[in-house]
Amino acid sequence: MAGSLLSAGVMAAPFSVGAEQQILPALRYKKVTEDSSTGYYTNEMLAPYDDIKQYNNFYEFGMNKDDPARYSEAMSIDPWSITIEGAVEKPGTFALEDILSKIDLEERIYRLRCVEAWSMVIPWVGFPLADLIKQFQPLSNAKYVQFVTLNRPSEMRGLRSRTSIIDWPYVEGLRIDEAMNPLTFLATGLYGRQLPKQNGAPIRLVVPWKYGFKSIKSIVKIRFLEKQPATSWNTLQSSEYGFYANVNPEVEHPRWSQKSERRLPSTFFSPNRMLTEPFNGYGEQVASLYSGMDLRKFY
Ligand code: MTE
Repeated sequence: MAGSLLSAGVMAAPFSVGAEQQILPALRYKKVTEDSSTGYYTNEMLAPYDDIKQYNNFYEFGMNKDDPARYSEAMSIDPWSITIEGAVEKPGTFALEDILSKIDLEERIYRLRCVEAWSMVIPWVGFPLADLIKQFQPLSNAKYVQFVTLNRPSEMRGLRSRTSIIDWPYVEGLRIDEAMNPLTFLATGLYGRQLPKQNGAPIRLVVPWKYGFKSIKSIVKIRFLEKQPATSWNTLQSSEYGFYANVNPEVEHPRWSQKSERRLPSTFFSPNRMLTEPFNGYGEQVASLYSGMDLRKFY
């Protein structure tokens, strides 16, 4: 494998070791080339490891930002398998370790822009979703891909909550060409270590030009479909959360502006506000996917 053991490499991860912080095993992967023209890399300041794993949205564990770090330990992730269904040559249920055994891991440094108008720069480890899709050979009528998160109430306290707003399991989707775009990534790690559970272990999607809610966590099922699939936030409130959810400072969320964002780490006195870019700054790589589409209508 053309990888390097990151813990011995350049990225002396700026995390502190506390009794409450489990240090996860290091991964072998190829470091990203420091070339921002691909979109795979940015030299913007990385969010500290602690922020990335303590300020989360993972409603399966509660709605507060610190709930996932507190409660996701209850989720067992070993063994883990992914079911591949629908318009595909090779459907079935596959052990994650078997899927990963055919894949080389690499690093990507991406901006993550939440629809709530905060953002972080995160050094992910993983592989292009296209590499996984190719293993299962979608048929020509596979126009969309739907992703499904683990649905295990005994280990996910948010699923047992009577006040939960989402109809579980959490589902997301992409058009097949979006899914095959080289920027679309499946992450199994961050900061050179295995993905913490609160960030969507053992495997989660990362679609850097879309609002963070598209980046579905802890994936157990991938379906290849002819029609546009249901997605959780769109089903909950379609006027606020579209299927496409491309980062777009020109389209307001009905309850707040999307023109700027708070880049974490940020404090009350130093909010670190910056202007939001169309497609979260990845327009050069992805704008052509939407040529001819009215992005106010298909928000
Ligand atoms: N995936 C699942 N299954 N459940 C969730 O609640 N939240 C989404 C997304 N993926 C979510 C999810 C939202 S709103 C965001 S902004 C990102 O995860 C946050 O990822 P992070 O906690 O790793 O920063």
